[in-house]
Order: sequence, then C-alpha cells, then structure tokens
Amino acid sequence: MADSNSNRQDPASDAGDASAGIEAAAPGKTAPSAERPPVVAFRNVTKSFGDPPHAKVAIQGVTFTVEDLPDKGELVAIVGPSGCGKSTLLRTIAGLKPHFPPTTGEAFVLGKPIEEPGPDRGLVDQKYSLLPHLNVIENISFGLKLRGMAKSERHDQAEAWVRKVGLEGSEKKYPGELSGGMQQRVAIAATLVLHPRVLLMDEPFGALDPGIRLRMQELLVQLWSEQQATVFLVTHSVEEAVYLGDRVFLMASNPGRLIEILRVDRPTGSPEQSRRQPWFLEFSQQLLNKLEEVSGAPAALQV
Ligand SMILES: Nc1ncnc2c1ncn2[C@@H]1O[C@H](COP(=O)(O)OP(=O)(O)OP(=O)(O)O)[C@@H](O)[C@H]1O
Ligand SMILES: [Mg+2]
Repeated sequence: MADSNSNRQDPASDAGDASAGIEAAAPGKTAPSAERPPVVAFRNVTKSFGDPPHAKVAIQGVTFTVEDLPDKGELVAIVGPSGCGKSTLLRTIAGLKPHFPPTTGEAFVLGKPIEEPGPDRGLVDQKYSLLPHLNVIENISFGLKLRGMAKSERHDQAEAWVRKVGLEGSEKKYPGELSGGMQQRVAIAATLVLHPRVLLMDEPFGALDPGIRLRMQELLVQLWSEQQATVFLVTHSVEEAVYLGDRVFLMASNPGRLIEILRVDRPTGSPEQSRRQPWFLEFSQQLLNKLEEVSGAPAALQV
C-alpha cells in the first residue's frame, strides 16, 4: 500500500521558475528518439492570441515529456487556476485551432511534430460533443463509420461499449433524453471505441453530481487500465487529480505556465477508500496549498 513517503516530487520540481522546475527541461531530454519516442513532448511551447501590443499569452515556455511506458500508459492530471492555459495545452496536443499551432516552440506526438488532429488522439470535453440527431449506438459508432468500418461490425463494437459504460437499455435514446452523467459516458465510449493512443479529457466530470462523479472516476480507471492509453485530464478537483493522476501538472497564470510536476502513486482502492488514507490526505493538502499559492484564492479539494 502507498504511504506518504512513497509519494514523491520529481527531484527537479523544487526549482522555482517556470522552466527549471520541469523534469523535461534538461537539454536533449525531450528529443524524440527513433526507437521509442515519447508519447507527447512539448519544447518551450508558447501560445499567444491576438497581435501585439494587445496579445494575450495563454501559455508560455511549456516543456515536458510523457514517455511511452510499455503496457502501462500514464495519466497526467492538469490543475491550475482558471485561465492558466489548461485547455490551450490540451487542444494544442489535439491539434485543434485556434489553440494550435503554437506561436513558438515545438509539440510532438509519438515523435512527430503535431500538424493536425489525428486518430492517435481523442478529446472528451465538458460539452460532451454528442450529435443530437444520433442515438446512443449511432453516436458511439460514428467515428468508426467515418473510418469506413462496415455497419454490423461497428454496431457490435458500439454494443460492447454500451455495456462497458453501463448504458444497457439506453441504446436507442437520443442525447436529449439522457442525464449529464449518461451523456458523458456516451462521449467517453465514443472516444475510447476508437482506441486513441492519447486520451485528452477537459474537465470531463465537471458538470456531474458528486456520486456520479466518483463512479465515473472508477470507470475511467478501469477502462484506462484495459486500454493502456496515455491520458491528460484537466480537473479543478484536487482529490480527482490525486486519485487519478500518476503525475500532476501544476500550472499558474499570467502568463499561463507549467510550474511544477508532482508524482503520485496510483491508489489501489475505490475513490471513497483512497481519500481516507493518510498519504492521500497529506498529498491532497500539499497540492491544495500549492494551488492556493498560485491562485491567490481558496482552491477546492473536491468540486
Ligand atoms: N480562442 C481564444 N482567443 C483568445 N484568447 C483565448 C482563446 N482561448 C483561450 N484564450 C485565452 O487564453 C488564456 C488561457 O485560456 P484557457 O482556456 O486555455 O484556460 P483554462 O486554464 O482552460 O481556463 P478554465 O479553467 O477557465 O477552463 C485565457 O486568458 C483565455 O482568455
Ligand atoms: Mg479550460
């Protein structure tokens, strides 16, 4: 079982400035190697919106590496105050305009410079992104249809995902007939059915009530361990970050930047059990303090 001593910060993470605190800032460390390139690597990525002198710097000098861990995957939780560039970071990885391309710096996925959205990356955002005129099965299988998969095969795969996310009986329902939690499960299934190597989740559980949110967290852990994808998860909940994250990226604003990377052990129990364990409470409190420091305002253990 994890204890507080085994939850450690990255050795470099105490350094105070925007780039030195980041483990990947060492020269050459982010260079994608031909053999096993990192899943995602940013080198000094800056994104500004608008033109000087009124340009708004959304993120500045962001550098990190997420290695390709064989048969494991990694979940990176991203926390930071509103406006610090969390969505910008995620959407840059997704290759989505206007956040992509960066103004300066380089961003890689699987060793190749990101050029546009691709099937290796899937984004689940807060708005669920379901197609209102398609039912549950059709929504889940829509991406497979775009890939040219035959109808019976994509129907079978969508059926399997309906079961995995616990939506049996709702196959023929339309998004407007589903609760927020059900819609979110459809959105997650519609993304995971495509087996993205990198799963990008932007506050995916933000609109859910606390009970459903805990169940969704468990579901995500279960599905993710089956898929071994690399996950980036933006959250405003410290407990969610500690429960789900292998590493927590702490961001600050004005300008948006990555100031610290914290490593955290993977809890073994349910969210309810885990968050009562001493190491979990201690780690969450530490993160909360850091978040309050960068936010200049009270932060939330739970949202
Ligand atoms: N399309 C855009 N045009 C202009 N400015 C933008 C755009 N998207 C984001 N920004 C600005 O970039 C900064 C970072 O925005 P971003 O949405 O990435 O923050 P965030 O950390 O995701 O915030 P939140 O927690 O509120 O979702 C903000 O100041 C925002 O106003
Ligand atoms: Mg955002």
